[in-house]
Amino acid sequence: MSYHESLRRSFFVAIASAVALLIVSCDSEDMSDLLDIEEDPLYSLASFPVGVAVSSPDLLGDNIYFRSLSAHHFNSITCGNDMKMDALHPSEGSYSWGNADFLIDFAQQHNKRIHGHVLVWHSQVPLWMEDYQGTSDQWEALLKDHIKTIVTHYQAEVFSWDVVNEAFEEDGSLRHTIWRDNIGDDYIAKCFQWAREAGPGIKLFYNDYGLSFNGPKFWAVQAMIDDFQSRNPPIPIDGIGFQMHISDDNPPLANIQAVVDTIEARGLLVHFSELDVSLNRNGYYSELTEAMKQRQKERYYDVFTVYRSLPDELQAGITIWGVGDSDSWIRSFFGRIDWPLLFDDNYDPKPAFWGVVEALQDSG
Ligand code: G3I
Repeated sequence: MSYHESLRRSFFVAIASAVALLIVSCDSEDMSDLLDIEEDPLYSLASFPVGVAVSSPDLLGDNIYFRSLSAHHFNSITCGNDMKMDALHPSEGSYSWGNADFLIDFAQQHNKRIHGHVLVWHSQVPLWMEDYQGTSDQWEALLKDHIKTIVTHYQAEVFSWDVVNEAFEEDGSLRHTIWRDNIGDDYIAKCFQWAREAGPGIKLFYNDYGLSFNGPKFWAVQAMIDDFQSRNPPIPIDGIGFQMHISDDNPPLANIQAVVDTIEARGLLVHFSELDVSLNRNGYYSELTEAMKQRQKERYYDVFTVYRSLPDELQAGITIWGVGDSDSWIRSFFGRIDWPLLFDDNYDPKPAFWGVVEALQDSG
């Protein structure tokens, strides 16, 4: 090999090694001056609860990483599935508390707040409810019993409930569900009233996805709040849950800021209730690149920074919808690879995790 050839080769080897080193060091950035990840919980940096969605299979199985990271970094728990209608009320007249109680024990052992999800939804409804035949009054009695029984059962443990989930379509019209179709358009207001009667001290939320686009669905939610507050007596509602299943490029940050400002102006609590940041919403990618990780880090930083603009008393918290990327609902629901969460498939923290740390530590 000629001298020049060997020089050129060593040059490329040196460049390649430097790039490799850079990638490795970005991946396992030593951020211990920001947070000692073994010692200090993520939530300890925040002025609001930082939560995570957990499900009984995750905690009952042998997933020690899921268990220990949930216990260590988060101080609020939402049941991802175990408090839904089909889980708690599988057959007529009979409730099944076992799995949810198990998660509540876990939360209490580790001193965590419990956010209840969800009293009324059109999805994950037990078959017996879907097949139910009755008059409007009988449907109303069924739903009232469901809400009152559950809110009463968990009155001492659950801090807040998503009372109604996803009642509006994208265009702002009311979604046709068995509840609306059998009880009437006013079923949402009735649900909030029944929840308040059963749990006077419990914070009550309306929860939905896509609200942070600041479009017709969000305007419909505002109209609902106006309606609730203008009645005599007013219909109780304490806050809005923005699910925040967002992606790295959508919706624009200005829209997220605008919806938060709108709810702040109404003096209601704001919960970012199911946050995850998709990197592959169009399914174009099969691998996670360094550039994508950095985009996601910025996105988490921005979302937490917007949230911090709220006054403390309106901060109900931010809940992340899972721990490691492989836990995310997105892969199975949409049938595509994605990496939406703070920890990777091996439960190592991603740059996204450090984006949250930086946002929480930023004094600006
Ligand atoms: O219960 C069965 C189990 O018996 C079976 O062995 C297993 C096999 O796949 O499926 C289990 O049901 C799954 C259930 O999660 C519990 O794991 C369903 O198939 C699956 O569709 C269901 O997905 C949940 C999804 O809601 C259903 O709509 C996700 O875990 C849950 O994260 C997701 O959460 C929703 C929020 O409640 C509301 N906002 C949107 C969010 C994401 O879709």
